[in-house]
Amino acid sequence: MTQRIRKAVFPVAGLGSRFLPATKAQPKEMMPVVDKPLIQYAVEEAVAAGITEMIFITGRNKRAIEDHFDKAYELESELEAADKHELLELVRQVIPKNINCIYIRQSAPLGLGHAVLCARPVVGDEPFAVLLADDFMDVPEGQRPVIAQMTDLFVYERCSVLGVQQVPREHTRQYGIVSAVPYRENAELITDIVEKPDPEKAPSTLAVAGRYVLSAKIFDFLERLDKGAGGEIQLTDGIAALLRAERVLAYSYSGQRYDCGSKLGYLKAMTAMGLKHAETSIAYRNFLEELALQK
Ligand code: UTP
Repeated sequence: MTQRIRKAVFPVAGLGSRFLPATKAQPKEMMPVVDKPLIQYAVEEAVAAGITEMIFITGRNKRAIEDHFDKAYELESELEAADKHELLELVRQVIPKNINCIYIRQSAPLGLGHAVLCARPVVGDEPFAVLLADDFMDVPEGQRPVIAQMTDLFVYERCSVLGVQQVPREHTRQYGIVSAVPYRENAELITDIVEKPDPEKAPSTLAVAGRYVLSAKIFDFLERLDKGAGGEIQLTDGIAALLRAERVLAYSYSGQRYDCGSKLGYLKAMTAMGLKHAETSIAYRNFLEELALQK
């Protein structure tokens, strides 16, 4: 396997049905947390891990994402003419100069496994990262972003790594759940993985979050898959086959995950980041205190 991870895949072709009507004409990954869309946080996370090739798997409403990561000539010249230099820099910095963005269309939302398989012609035979932008990751000050923690482990172990966290047993139906044995600090060796098991059948409560570093061998397995849970081609089923051929580690990342594909998770992310943002933190904290007192 190559020395480092250069490519990241961002599947953004899901229907986002839990967020209708907000997702009627835009992908849910364009929804903002305070002032940045979810997808920009995920791309910044990948950039911080040294990744330079950003591969977006897009669906029906792809334009907003393409436009977001493209040069905005009109907007830039208007900001320049109005002497709004700080804002101009903000707009220009959305995508750093050495970064390439590649867009691949998923013909229909056939499932996350199918979306990742669509990246094969661009990823080729090198290991790569996958980031689900709706799993928003907030790491403590001074910590490496989650995908960087995982690519660090990849460089050391040279095998696939899944980001995992403990979840309440009653929530196992929302996740891929792994069985694993101790391996090293913060990492376990996965022996099995199942998609969305019922709580009484789940082999553990260790759930896969939306961060992966995968060996390119996963494509061979994804190609042969039939539909799995929910009638979709599941990435989890591909990983279940992969771990019979190669080592796959479950890494307990350090950081707080917010499920921004759900309304409550999105509101929590907005609140956590609103309390941290330099422009809003004090006034927002006061507002929340006022609200709490009214109860
Ligand atoms: P979700 O399971 O959250 O599905 O997908 P969804 O369709 O986006 O949202 P709901 O459940 O209808 O509200 C997890 C990730 O996989 C991507 C989604 O964009 C999301 O980032 N995905 C899913 C695809 O790119 N293609 C697919 O066919 C399915």
